[in-house]
Amino acid sequence: MNEPPHRRRAHTSARDLERYAGLFAQRTQVMRSSAMRDLMAITARPEVISLAGGLPDTSTFPPQSFAAQMTRIAQESAAQALQYGPTEGFEETKDCILQVMGAEGMLPDPADVIVTTGGQQAIDLLCKTLLDPGDVVLCEAPTYPGAIPVFCSYEAEVIQIETDEDGMRVDELEAALAELTAQRRRPKFIYTVPSFQNPAGVTLSVERRRRLVELAREHEILVLEDNPYGLLRYGGEPPPPLYQLDGGDYVVYLGTFSKILSPGIRLGWAVAPPPVMEKVILGKQASDLCTSTLTQYFVREYFAEGRWREYIDDLIEIYRGRRDVMIASLEKHFPRQATWTRPEGGLFVWATLPDYIDTEDLLAKALRQNVAFVPGRAAYIDERGHSSMRLNFSGVGDDEIREGVRRIGKVVEEQVNLYETLTGHSVPAPAPSRSPQTKVEEDSADVLPFRRAGEGR
Ligand SMILES: Cc1ncc(COP(=O)(O)O)c(C=O)c1O
Repeated sequence: MNEPPHRRRAHTSARDLERYAGLFAQRTQVMRSSAMRDLMAITARPEVISLAGGLPDTSTFPPQSFAAQMTRIAQESAAQALQYGPTEGFEETKDCILQVMGAEGMLPDPADVIVTTGGQQAIDLLCKTLLDPGDVVLCEAPTYPGAIPVFCSYEAEVIQIETDEDGMRVDELEAALAELTAQRRRPKFIYTVPSFQNPAGVTLSVERRRRLVELAREHEILVLEDNPYGLLRYGGEPPPPLYQLDGGDYVVYLGTFSKILSPGIRLGWAVAPPPVMEKVILGKQASDLCTSTLTQYFVREYFAEGRWREYIDDLIEIYRGRRDVMIASLEKHFPRQATWTRPEGGLFVWATLPDYIDTEDLLAKALRQNVAFVPGRAAYIDERGHSSMRLNFSGVGDDEIREGVRRIGKVVEEQVNLYETLTGHSVPAPAPSRSPQTKVEEDSADVLPFRRAGEGR
């Protein structure tokens, strides 16, 4: 009888680490784990209400539609769908991408498009193409937590520019660029999520968009416009994408089907000027040859059905309601010293607590109450963000949002009470914002995304 194969030990012993350490590349020393990845393992426990992930609600996708498309692929194109494909992606996939970008007013040349394994790979490929160790990248503070490990693994120097209710402070960006120029340092690119930013939920104003594009031209540096959420708008008027304002000379556009269809299919894309695209394609070849043929066939079939805009409309209805539930729950359960954003789209609210609360410590306490969020530090390269948290409202239903926020509110309240007991004084609530009468039901372009707790309760 054959011996059963030995199972590898689940945990790496110290001796194992020593054995391999000398083999690691230098860059592994600056590699960082994505905070979300670590959290995902914990939040996978069914008893945990996770407001941590950036998960779209895939249970809203009709299973019969999924079954019909996959059956059609199996019956009509099995051999092709199971085969390798071109590195830059199928023309039919690019047609779908053009429809999605067209819905936001963009019309790129299909030759400038590459289909990638999710938007995450698009970030990675652009970094691989553009960054040498020590190169400067500018991005928002806070920034997309999943971008930080990519910048780190290419050994970039990351400069984060403060963000307010109108997105990245472009005046600060301008000052940072001037300082770098004075030091004879030319940054490689500005990375931005201009619409319904992950994690802050804020949107870059039209004026700032125009100035950002001008600055890129003046300094001859690229802008990586990462836009997974632009079509998930719950109110207000959409500002033009940076790509549209620039015409695609300095703006490299990154998109994904993850939030408007499915993250499981791992389909994203990048649009870049031909000289950049040529290098990106070489990088992609080396990484994984091509993006999944099967899921490209799925997207093709799905778009042929002609319902993709309707599905986004369905998602908008659902997520708008969940955002409102989250905001109402924050008003009910968070202390008056807290502030939070009120996003007009996307999947996230960014809440900031009194300075003396560390949200990493708070998370440990929250997990004991079976609820999770992303601590703010995950969105910074340095130690900023310690008293903030990212809360997701798309991945769970209304009741779980209410209960999750209630549980977090309870642990926050305990911290506030403890602080006030120990110090003998209470911290005043923040000054009122510009629009104290903002209401949860409102959905207009001039609604302030930043909102103070306690207003309009
Ligand atoms: C701003 C941003 N960029 C990129 C991604 C990566 O998405 P995917 O690789 O699923 O397309 C995400 C996912 O949450 C995101 O929020």
